[in-house]
Amino acid sequence: MADSSAAAHHPASGDVTKRDLLQLIALSGAAIAAGAIAWPLIDSMNPSKDVLALSSVEVDLTPIAEGQGIVVSWQGKPIFVRHRTAAEIKEAQDVKLSQLIDPHDGLDSERVKAGHDQWLVVVGICTHLGCIPLGNKPSDPRGEYGGWFCPCHGSQYDTSGRVRHGPAPLNLALPPYAFESNTKIKVG
Ligand code: FES
Repeated sequence: MADSSAAAHHPASGDVTKRDLLQLIALSGAAIAAGAIAWPLIDSMNPSKDVLALSSVEVDLTPIAEGQGIVVSWQGKPIFVRHRTAAEIKEAQDVKLSQLIDPHDGLDSERVKAGHDQWLVVVGICTHLGCIPLGNKPSDPRGEYGGWFCPCHGSQYDTSGRVRHGPAPLNLALPPYAFESNTKIKVG
């Protein structure tokens, strides 16, 4: 009697355990299935490395008047394209390496394409903490050196995109680009 009483008190415990286990297996299966469906979807949304590496942008220079600058997007980065005036070019060329915070690629001739001195093309990301400097719109401040002014912490760049006043430590980077004609460049 004692045994049957004990059995009467615990008949369901084995069943509950089995049921819980079955539910757990069923849920795990659902989660694995959901994961298997989600992964190819997410994976298919990522551009392949080849596409990222090859992506390039063509820029028509004809609408950019002397003294003006524009911003184009290349691989998610702002690219500044400035049509420099004769005075801005001379100012950039007259600067000596000893005057620069970052002399690497500091000569103006190293920062423009030969025969195209009037066009400066730089990555528009401040080398301090990554803000986008001002200086492309006519109403923007360009700083004391006539290039770009970073409003985040006051860095200033000259008409060659070189840092002339910190805290930014480096000149604006130069993206890969080439002239396809006198009025068109291809960035990337
Ligand atoms: S991010 Fe440009 S000065 Fe700090």
